[in-house]
Amino acid sequence: MNRIFSGVQPSGAMQLGNYLGAIRNFVRLQDDYDCIYCVVDLHAITLWQDPKLLAEQTRHVTASYLAAGVDPKQSIIFNQSAVAGHAQLAWIFNCVARIGWLNRMTQFKEKAGKHRENASVGLYVYPDLMAADILLYKATHVPVGEDQKQHLELTRDIAQKFNHDYGVEYFPITEPLIFGEATRVMSLRDGTKKMSKSDPSDYSRINLTDDADAIALKIRKARTDPHPLPETIEDLEKRPEANNLVGIYAALADISRPEALAKVAGTQFAGFKQELADLAVEKVGPIGAEMQRLTADPGHVDAILKEGAERAAAIAEPILKDVMEIVGFLRP
Ligand code: AMP
Ligand code: TRP
Repeated sequence: MNRIFSGVQPSGAMQLGNYLGAIRNFVRLQDDYDCIYCVVDLHAITLWQDPKLLAEQTRHVTASYLAAGVDPKQSIIFNQSAVAGHAQLAWIFNCVARIGWLNRMTQFKEKAGKHRENASVGLYVYPDLMAADILLYKATHVPVGEDQKQHLELTRDIAQKFNHDYGVEYFPITEPLIFGEATRVMSLRDGTKKMSKSDPSDYSRINLTDDADAIALKIRKARTDPHPLPETIEDLEKRPEANNLVGIYAALADISRPEALAKVAGTQFAGFKQELADLAVEKVGPIGAEMQRLTADPGHVDAILKEGAERAAAIAEPILKDVMEIVGFLRP
């Protein structure tokens, strides 16, 4: 069977983009693939995380997987630092990837910003660790949001170069799975910026744990333009904020963007926003409530992570052993 690997960083509150772009798809893939879903704490510390909060954030992301419907009996759920092979394989990939490849990564450029010289080395080699996450399990498919596409291309390049340099056909060439009507959910304050856990403005995003009032308020305050909703997709695409809200509506209602637009074309934003808020509360509310329930019982969440780490390590171990042999490390 084909194998799925994906991950989310425990670096803040889970938001609607994480749900619609990633974890909702995790749930839908469970029956057709062997799935491994990771909470990538090694990735999170590429930007400093308060040690007092990191464990809590790790449980928070785990709770979001469970609340969205990932079944820990069927799929593997674990935190990255619990399986040492991720860091070990990442080192080998640091020696396979080329500096020129990493220099092209747009996420590094965005996150490092003007302070490039002061960014952590970890932030720079982050995509090598991501390739290691995936290939440590020889995963064939990786469900992610649109923003991770470039990192997955790099993963393919690393697999190819490793195979070529060592004269083997060892690693698979991984396929990205980017699907749904919300592969790139934008900020509610700025339709040209991605909705993100780390945006300083809480009004820019809908958190999965927001209550009904907060969800409705944030949607009501979402930036829009003064015109009624357009009649055609071409016109919609010229208006980033309107396009974003219609995309969110389509994804939540599980219909296509043209179908969603057909329902609201020509109407004013006020009415549409009310409808969108009701739908968001209906779909996100129960997930948030379940997350609250799960985080009240950290013992239960920790037990799932522990069992997941054991199952993940059992898959990773023989693969890492093969890799060490291919590279020529002495294993006395
Ligand atoms: P991160 O929060 O950066 O760890 O992202 C975890 C997963 O959620 C990745 O698959 C991302 O591509 C996806 N994701 C994060 N933000 C968004 C967004 N605004 N729209 C769609 N997908 C997203
Ligand atoms: N880089 C991803 C993000 O920030 C998270 C991630 C780390 C990941 N390792 C992964 C996603 C492996 C898919 C597969 O969104």
